[in-house]
Amino acid sequence: MPDSTHARPPIERVAVLIPTYNERDNLPLIVERVRAAVPEADVVVLDDNSPDGTGEVADGLAATDDHVKVIHRQGKEGLGAAYLAGFAWALEQGYDAVVEMDADGSHRPEHLPTMLEVARDADLVIGSRYVRGGKIVNWPLDRKAISMAGNLYIKAILGMPVNDATAGYRVYRAETLRTIGLDRVQSAGYVFQTDLTVRTVRAGLKVVEVPITFIEREIGDSKMDGDVVRESMARITRWGLAHRKAQLRGLIDREPTWHRL
Ligand code: GDD
Ligand code: MN
Repeated sequence: MPDSTHARPPIERVAVLIPTYNERDNLPLIVERVRAAVPEADVVVLDDNSPDGTGEVADGLAATDDHVKVIHRQGKEGLGAAYLAGFAWALEQGYDAVVEMDADGSHRPEHLPTMLEVARDADLVIGSRYVRGGKIVNWPLDRKAISMAGNLYIKAILGMPVNDATAGYRVYRAETLRTIGLDRVQSAGYVFQTDLTVRTVRAGLKVVEVPITFIEREIGDSKMDGDVVRESMARITRWGLAHRKAQLRGLIDREPTWHRL
């Protein structure tokens, strides 16, 4: 297993995964920006059979550009499920790094060259809103409060040293995804992001946060809903309690320790 100091192979082949659900008008704009920002990379659209025809728009883009691919999925199964399918495909295809990026322009492709540069010496790079230099533009106060409270809860209950563990703009090295093992991941919705962050940190891998400016979408609607929030709360609480229970077990261990001196 790699540790955080091992020499990492160069990143040559990059797949930028973009999950979509009803992003017809956003998709051409984001694909064009990604192609301009990182011309060598492939763009892979993960569409959940969007009723608005995003899948056909994606096929149209793929027809005129070899660097654009589309994975059509049967229906809306959540962000996590879409990414798991995309990761499995990208690993099979032999990409060196896999990028996660929203379709709505919130994750500016112009940050990507820097993130890929940082990934030369990291196992996971997070485009972070909550490190010095990170910003959020145009989020209503309530959404900001939910996100910040969520990240504070994750830090407090899991003791995790990551400032933006819910972030959806990331670079994973292929080796990282192989190491953490994706077959046991069950998070369906946005909590997938936190789930994989926990797994990466626990595997002893190197996570680096790069400040980004997150700009709220101008076209279409967020897919964040009550189910997404409830799944996040339930899972994070369960992981946190298990973590604290394990710590407590260590503290109440009455075995005499003198023999270890
Ligand atoms: N294929 C697929 N299936 N795509 C989905 C699904 C789904 O079930 N749900 C959402 N998406 C896609 C959207 O179409 C978009 O491209 C991206 O996932 C993000 O969805 P948004 O609905 O725009 O997310 P947000 O702006 O509310 O949330 C942002 O912040 C979250 C919390 O910090 C994102 O950056 C999330 O990734 C992040 O976890
Ligand atoms: Mn969004």
